[in-house]
Amino acid sequence: MRVLLVGGGGREHALSRSIAASPLLTRLWAAPGNPGIAEHAECVPIGVEDIPALVAFARDNAADLVVVGPEAPLTLGLADALAAAGIVCFGPSAAAARLEGSKAFCREVTSAAGVPGAEWARFDDPAAARAYVRAKGAPIVVKADGLAAGKGVVVAATVGEAEAAIADIMEARVHGASGATVVIEECLTGQEVSFFALCDGTDAVPLAAAQDHKRVGDGDTGPNTGGMGAYSPPPVFNDAMRDDVMNRIIHPTLAEMARRGTPFRGVLFAGLMVTATGPRLIEFNVRFGDPECQAILMRLDGDLLAALDAACRGRLRDLALGWSADPSLVVVMAARGYPGTPAKGGTIAGLDRAAAIPGARVFQAGTARRADGTLVAQGGRVLGIGARAPTLRAARDAAYAAVDAVEWPDGFCRRDIGSRAL
Ligand code: AMP
Ligand code: GLY
Repeated sequence: MRVLLVGGGGREHALSRSIAASPLLTRLWAAPGNPGIAEHAECVPIGVEDIPALVAFARDNAADLVVVGPEAPLTLGLADALAAAGIVCFGPSAAAARLEGSKAFCREVTSAAGVPGAEWARFDDPAAARAYVRAKGAPIVVKADGLAAGKGVVVAATVGEAEAAIADIMEARVHGASGATVVIEECLTGQEVSFFALCDGTDAVPLAAAQDHKRVGDGDTGPNTGGMGAYSPPPVFNDAMRDDVMNRIIHPTLAEMARRGTPFRGVLFAGLMVTATGPRLIEFNVRFGDPECQAILMRLDGDLLAALDAACRGRLRDLALGWSADPSLVVVMAARGYPGTPAKGGTIAGLDRAAAIPGARVFQAGTARRADGTLVAQGGRVLGIGARAPTLRAARDAAYAAVDAVEWPDGFCRRDIGSRAL
């Protein structure tokens, strides 16, 4: 198979490695890729949001399959444009990607499907939103409806904080047009789990679950980030919960999306809260999580490309994917300043020594290569340093041994990834 992978982060480095290991693969391109992905794919300088150029490249190079990593091209209609050109795409249509692109749409669909979630309401009018918050009391969660780079959610401890969030999102429009509508939700408590299922429009199979660390600082302190580390499987999530999530969250959502004429194909990422009464849905994403993808793919014993292809062709029923019982863990190394303005251009060395630690794997996310071959940091989350081992403790120790082999003065990481499970 000739495959085009869209994206250039740590998630796509993990995807490229697994796709490159498939006996089905004949040629792999990545747009735009990165220096790590270049070990497995030919990188082509096309941005992930340049839909016409991506479609033209896939058509001109007779790609059999386009695998889309990030959500932005999906919400912009990449899958639809590829379908119109007769090219198979792993990733949902723009209409189905609204499950991530609009929090109100996600809650409408999942409420109609009877999915266990949070009590919620949507508002286009700030005065009505304030009245609702006062009536419900705190804690309460205020969310900008649209995509806001992961920053549009405020978990408010007081009514005052919730009212300030309404003013920021709806009136000051700190996240732009995505704040024209807000969703206000009951605050769920418990442990968060990221769960992934492969979907072909009508059928779904579970992949694996992982736990992410969203705050920038040790002990879950400081601002939210895209994720500072992850491990899989999460001890709080057992096989009975997996079956429960498939039966009560994934399958009913797929059925409701199909009933609306917008079937979901791709990977459905359920952000779950494992509450005292079982798993409840916080939100859906329409793509693999990053860094969760690195953690779960380190545990995959099977052919990822065959699985993605089966999802695209409606053949999930026959799919048998194996998962290692050995846990995996990924530590994200970010550039000083992240999640604010990250330091750029610092040189990175020692990745070969890091990768040589038994069980360790290096994923590149925000890296670039200078003309002289030097690897430099470019972006916030720059490296994912992972390991798989017979125990989570051993995986953590190997991952941190690999982190310590990296020579990157501008980089930092959390030192407590996995501690909740240990
Ligand atoms: P999101 O950007 O939708 O992933 O939300 C960011 C984070 O906000 C989630 O990972 C949760 O930690 C938190 N969150 C969102 N919705 C809720 C909720 N209803 N109850 C508690 N926490 C929530
Ligand atoms: N790590 C969370 C995400 O990918 O959205």
